[in-house]
Amino acid sequence: MTDNDDATPMGADTAALEPPLKSLPTISGAARLAGVIGWPIAHSLSPRLHNTWLRHYGIDGVYVPLEIRPENFADALVALPKLGFRGVNVTFPYKETALALVQKATPAARRIGAVNTIVVALDGSLIGSNTDAFGFLENLRDAKPSWRADSGRVVVLGAGGAARAIIVALCDEGAAEIRLLNRTHARALNLAADVHGPICTLPWKDRHQALAGAELVVNTTSLGMRHQPPLDLDLSLLPPGAIVCDIVYVPTVTPLLAAARARGNPCVGGLGMLIHQARPGFAAWFGRMPEVSDDLVRQVLGDQFDECSSLV
Ligand SMILES: NC(=O)c1ccc[n+]([C@@H]2O[C@H](COP(=O)([O-])OP(=O)(O)OC[C@H]3O[C@@H](n4cnc5c(N)ncnc54)[C@H](OP(=O)(O)O)[C@@H]3O)[C@@H](O)[C@H]2O)c1
Repeated sequence: MTDNDDATPMGADTAALEPPLKSLPTISGAARLAGVIGWPIAHSLSPRLHNTWLRHYGIDGVYVPLEIRPENFADALVALPKLGFRGVNVTFPYKETALALVQKATPAARRIGAVNTIVVALDGSLIGSNTDAFGFLENLRDAKPSWRADSGRVVVLGAGGAARAIIVALCDEGAAEIRLLNRTHARALNLAADVHGPICTLPWKDRHQALAGAELVVNTTSLGMRHQPPLDLDLSLLPPGAIVCDIVYVPTVTPLLAAARARGNPCVGGLGMLIHQARPGFAAWFGRMPEVSDDLVRQVLGDQFDECSSLV
């Protein structure tokens, strides 16, 4: 017996525990397992999101955060089938490494150069995909159902990992013209060379003028994120009807979105992309394509919901 056992006789505590236990989902010995691997991982919204869906649909499953050190990442992936995991999401800093380690990858993941979703196949092999492109498009369509990629000029700011997924998505959707600008111009040139499409790279200093005639502007840089400076972008030349999309989701309303909203442009925040990119993984592991509703976002976001829901 431990000190604790001594201090809490059976019966007394059981009654006290009853209400919270009743509100917990049922996780049986046969529960399906999935999770998210990253380093660090404590900030991730994914466990809250997936477990909210599991509770909502009454699915016997659990989604756990897996904080894995870089030296253990490859071993952790190999262990997934042995531990009975159906799969995992992969986040910073492992998306590119994961592509090299899975046995199969979807063509889109190869073109993007990164894997964010892994499914354990029946034979125990790992199949990698990238759902960021899907998440970006679904979020945009949710917010602006009339949007079409081929209807006009798109300006993409940034050429990092997220930009790759977004450029692939836009090209596959038939974008007519993409203007790509990145602080490090060579990175924009590399991206344009890797993803064949109607991409024109421009110097970072020309970003203000590049907005002329745009139908959609997407910030994929980390500028505007909490603890980062805001994106310095003069919106004067942006047409009034152009959609402004910021994939940064902390805060939910970035300085760019606040400025665009103040001049009346339709705005799309990054949280919806994060939620939509999670759906294909959930469907593969738990057998149901989950829906995105205001209620769900409210549960995941708590107090920040009102700010976010006023965006579009
Ligand atoms: N909503 C979602 O679901 C979602 C999904 C993925 C990512 N994100 C967010 O998107 C952002 C980018 O993520 P990532 O994975 O693409 O990161 P990344 O690969 O590290 O790329 C960062 C990008 O930001 C640019 N940048 C950073 N500091 C800058 C500065 N001071 N001035 C100008 N440009 C600067 C970089 O330019 P250089 O090439 O010159 O360094 C690069 O283009 C993050 O805030 C992330 O949280 C959101």
